Amino acid sequence: MERTLVLLKPDAVERRLIGRILGIYEEKGLKITALKMFKPSRELVEAHYVEHKDKPFFHELVAYLSGGMVCALIIEGENVVRTVRKINGATDPAEAEMGSIRGQFALSKQENLVHASDSPESAEREIKLWFPEG
Ligand code: CMP
Repeated sequence: MERTLVLLKPDAVERRLIGRILGIYEEKGLKITALKMFKPSRELVEAHYVEHKDKPFFHELVAYLSGGMVCALIIEGENVVRTVRKINGATDPAEAEMGSIRGQFALSKQENLVHASDSPESAEREIKLWFPEG
């Protein structure tokens, strides 16, 4: 069974959208198998976004994600990586389909509510970072 790592970012938590977003994944029939909420360290967020370390928005992105509470979850299911990315919508909310989470609820490219792994390999790497306890 495939797994993916999902983050409900600080804007989702601050806007009280946790329940609504979890409901969208669950109503689709996906299974949430782990969930925790905490304020991640700068080191964890830098390791998570290492592939973006040379991008101009990297420092702001790290400050934003490590600046508030994040809800981290593992979701399991068939083709869950692709399915969850479709449910989340495009990174830029202006491009995201209206039925997606970002299409419905987000406006900003940075504060775009959710993160999901982009491949099964990234998912396993990210799960190890966010759930080191196993
Ligand atoms: P995510 O899917 O978590 O992957 C990388 C994140 O970087 C992305 O969501 C956004 O939060 C952020 N991001 C991507 N592109 C930009 C951009 N052009 N400006 C600011 N933040 C961005």
